[in-house]
Amino acid sequence: MRTAWVALSALMPVALSAQPADDDVERRVDELLARMTVEEKVGQLTQVGAFPGMDPEGTIRRAGAGSVLWLTDTERFNALQKIAVEETRLGIPVLFALDVIHGYETIFPVPLAMAASWDTDLYERAQAVAAREARAVGLHWTFGPMLDIARDARWGRMVEGAGEDPYLGSAMAAAQVRGFQGAYPGSPGHLIACAKHFAGYGAPDGGRDYESVYIPESQLHNVYLPPFRAAVDAGVGSLMSAYMDLNDVPATASHFLLREVLREEWGFEGFVVSDAFGVANLVVQGFAADGADAAVRALEAGTNFDMASDTFGRHLAAAASDGRIPAGLLDEAVRPILAAKLRMGLFESPYTDASAAAAVLEDPAHRELARIAARRSMVLLRNEGGALPLSRDEGPIAVIGPVADSPVDMEGSWTVFNHVPSAVTILQGIRDAVGTGVGVIHAPGPQIKRGSPSMFERFNPHLRREDQSPEDAEAAFQEALAAARAAKLVVMVLGETSQMSGEAASRASLDLPGRQQELLEAVAALGKPLVMVLVNGRPMTITWAAENVPAILEAWQPGSEAGHAVADVLFGDANPGGKLPVTFPRAAAHAPLYYAHNLSHQPEGSPNYQPRYWDGSHAPLYPFGYGLSYTSFEYSSPTVAPESVAVGGTATVSVEVRNAGEVAGDEVVQLYVHQRAGSASRPVRELKGFERVTLEPGETRTVSFELGPEELRYWSTAHGDWIQDAAAFEVWVGGDSTTENRAELTVTE
Ligand code: BGC
Repeated sequence: MRTAWVALSALMPVALSAQPADDDVERRVDELLARMTVEEKVGQLTQVGAFPGMDPEGTIRRAGAGSVLWLTDTERFNALQKIAVEETRLGIPVLFALDVIHGYETIFPVPLAMAASWDTDLYERAQAVAAREARAVGLHWTFGPMLDIARDARWGRMVEGAGEDPYLGSAMAAAQVRGFQGAYPGSPGHLIACAKHFAGYGAPDGGRDYESVYIPESQLHNVYLPPFRAAVDAGVGSLMSAYMDLNDVPATASHFLLREVLREEWGFEGFVVSDAFGVANLVVQGFAADGADAAVRALEAGTNFDMASDTFGRHLAAAASDGRIPAGLLDEAVRPILAAKLRMGLFESPYTDASAAAAVLEDPAHRELARIAARRSMVLLRNEGGALPLSRDEGPIAVIGPVADSPVDMEGSWTVFNHVPSAVTILQGIRDAVGTGVGVIHAPGPQIKRGSPSMFERFNPHLRREDQSPEDAEAAFQEALAAARAAKLVVMVLGETSQMSGEAASRASLDLPGRQQELLEAVAALGKPLVMVLVNGRPMTITWAAENVPAILEAWQPGSEAGHAVADVLFGDANPGGKLPVTFPRAAAHAPLYYAHNLSHQPEGSPNYQPRYWDGSHAPLYPFGYGLSYTSFEYSSPTVAPESVAVGGTATVSVEVRNAGEVAGDEVVQLYVHQRAGSASRPVRELKGFERVTLEPGETRTVSFELGPEELRYWSTAHGDWIQDAAAFEVWVGGDSTTENRAELTVTE
């Protein structure tokens, strides 16, 4: 059966000119709710998987479904939608959802790399492209952005977020929401965004994915929650709860997170989805007695959607009929889901025109933006004696390393299922850049492979790696050395495969895996000009390289245009301007290591200073905010005006930045503060402003930041609330988190 207005739908997308009025949406939601059975309501709270062996068709037919996930096929989307629209009693359309994290067809640099660009406009535009492509094939909802602050590089999912800092993380969160969603959640050509994983997932014990998380109150409010708050303030349509227990309460059933913080304090009006199988996991977590208990407690806590576990489907109707869930709770949970479908215009236009997608996916502007994004996200870590940029005329060049010619490893984790890797590799990029004039020799060296397979290899054969025998590895090693010997210059492309970071990809070591370090040292011993390009999704302990390899470029996993962008930077067509969004430790055992730590007994530099480890410095290998350029920048001393403000007042911090070199370049001007005394100890430094500027040689620019209550307040455990102290502040402005370019600000009563 279908309602009259659904019957008018055609197989063509209808562009809505504006967001439907809230009153109209609410009226239609009320009308639908009044007609729905309990089973139909539970159906709307069900998100069903479409992996082989799962039955989305049957689920939709029974009582409808709120959403289907893990699918990319437009024909199947339309077939499933037809069942929802034509075969269910009320014809309520389905939301199609997937992890579109850093691109759909056009792959952008991994999120950690995008954060390294410190360029919010760029990130917004990149996610708008991802949304455009995904919506064109029929998706409505992405499980991104991932907003977990991560300070432990062993945790594989650090690659999916913006790194260690809440200020940078919040800026990147808001930019992504704007990019994915456009004017409102699910506006034409866009997706509903989903801020995940709410909250604290980035701080698992030992960096081990899914492990317990204990976060003290002050850190939760000051560090882990702000990016989510920023996403809510930017109008994000949905949130995903996290897998783990936060302070012994599963996030999936946390009344504190999902009701007190999210809805009551922040006023969020969208919907919350559990993580995959998260509702069923409440039993595994030793929290819920059984599936029925899990369903009731997740719903009560504020979960709208049960992702993939069908625990709501199996238990909520019975719980509603025997009074275990209060009257009205089901309606409250269904309401924002129906509202989202109405706002998207899905009732009027439920289908996707399969023939229109190709033109969108092949739009050359998308690849062009991916190339710009990759260039802007790269971080120059070392450049002794101006080893870079390279000359196009000197060769032959040996390009060596196991990921140098691997499209899949250029793209990083979370490309969509069935995605066929199509990235330009670094080998190809260098070949394209030098043309025929200079010879390019390639040898991969020994392969690298995870110790245990990634779970994603099951779904995408392109991610699998063959085993290599020790004999073959040795032959590959020798071949690589021979290639280096035959070359005038060596570019070593080292790092991790795409599946060595991401979900269920934690590491106990942050060293270059496999025989890469050994090969690097053997090649370096040849004494040829040597450049190392790192391809990876997390900080790596490249301590030896940091002292022995003259030029190191952190390229991350740069996406579809990887090779072209790396070549642009290597040959000086682009000047690197990215900065690290995470601290690089010297040893994995130093994790978690982050710049915004507190200070106590015997601080570094004091007369009685005792090193924290007696067997090696714990100082970062590269600090947060760090990155070099082919030019250099000079800063004036910062001025603070006025130098004293009352609590609630705002001061302006200004600095002049000058490009003191010979070529144009980008600098990310960063503002840090430290509160000297107050109701709680505060970190040694905290980022409170940044701006990426492009300066011509000799050009000077004045960059200004506001420091007001928003920047100077913090959550004080002593008060159990946000407060602003009357206190003295140190203020630094410079090119990374260790700058000594300092001024002072006094905040009075
Ligand atoms: C991940 C989520 C993801 C979901 C759906 C889970 O395993 O933790 O980040 O969105 O799967 O694919």
